Amino acid sequence: MINEIRNLAKESASQIVSNRRHLHSFPELSFQEYNTAKFVAEELKKLGLSPQTMAETGVVALIEGKNPQSKTVALRADMDALPILEANEVSYKSQHLGVMHACGHDAHTASLLGTAHIINQLKDKFEGTIKLIFQPAEEKAPGGASIMIKDGVLQNPAPQSIIGQHVAPQIPAGKIGFREGMYMASTDELFITVKGKGGHAAMPETLIDPVLIASHIIIALQQVVSRNFSPKIPAVLSIGKVIANGATNVIPNEVSMEGTFRTMNEEWRAIAHARMKKIAEGIAESMGGSCDFQILRGYPFLVNEPKLTKRLRKAATEFMGQENVIDLDLWMAGEDFAFYSQQIDACFYRLGTRNEARGIISGVHTPTFDIDESALEIGAGLMAWLALHELRS
Ligand code: NI
Repeated sequence: MINEIRNLAKESASQIVSNRRHLHSFPELSFQEYNTAKFVAEELKKLGLSPQTMAETGVVALIEGKNPQSKTVALRADMDALPILEANEVSYKSQHLGVMHACGHDAHTASLLGTAHIINQLKDKFEGTIKLIFQPAEEKAPGGASIMIKDGVLQNPAPQSIIGQHVAPQIPAGKIGFREGMYMASTDELFITVKGKGGHAAMPETLIDPVLIASHIIIALQQVVSRNFSPKIPAVLSIGKVIANGATNVIPNEVSMEGTFRTMNEEWRAIAHARMKKIAEGIAESMGGSCDFQILRGYPFLVNEPKLTKRLRKAATEFMGQENVIDLDLWMAGEDFAFYSQQIDACFYRLGTRNEARGIISGVHTPTFDIDESALEIGAGLMAWLALHELRS
């Protein structure tokens, strides 16, 4: 089967590249992927599949092998682009001014269409069902994945496991990376307003200084990570915005602050939320002011189920060669694939897309981001191999 998949991937390569370029030329923002979803559905219909719409701009389709009820494996691609003005001068440059596939979701979508094409031709050679999930809005809260799950994407049929990939501009094309267990962080946004009583800066006895209160809060919050968390659990708390709009001789009435809190353990995450609030409110109160502490819950942390990831990593070495499968570091960024990973066995791996010789080195979310498209054939073939391998295990 492995050689058959390699050959089918090679045959599909030019189609995958042209699909990716089409998607790249016409990017759509989160929750607005109407034409992208239409394109995906049309491509799936060409394969004789029956795509369903879900979460408004998501697309789901099944490829059934023999004995389709025996097992289901889900494969996921995200489809949305970012509000970035593309700076690349390429034939497939974004034609939607100020919108760009700068996170490779065009590649994920085109690659999964390629995977569908490959698996569809092997239908009489495997048992079980492959569920294709083309998901909207990875880049925007509350995350397309959470809405797809609410709409029942993990039911009828319920997949036993889910596999996703993401391009990696730091890994050379031709290589892929895996990590078992904790991989990406939960992401929560903090909005803090400290209220005091402003006035003349030379008359502190008549004031409740919110600037001083806010300063104490910033410092004290760091102890949530450094003193309350186990050092074995990665966590970071950063305040990136502080607005105290007074003057040299004016103390303002209030100070507003914004920040991010990220970690890799849901239990600690909940404890930290309560503790941050308590610390901030307590400090404000003890100094005569008050504090409004809002937490906008983002994505949960992403965990790669160890047994599944081990199996897939091994299968990947068979497909790619040992030397082309590398281990990944923890990544404190967020990713809404994490929602699936909190529900069922999940594995999220990285597809190398870097090519230094050709100057393809820009990071994701930058205006010069691009990929070495030779990775697409690998991405599509590998995912087909991993999915069918998993159905057999
Ligand atoms: Ni992304």
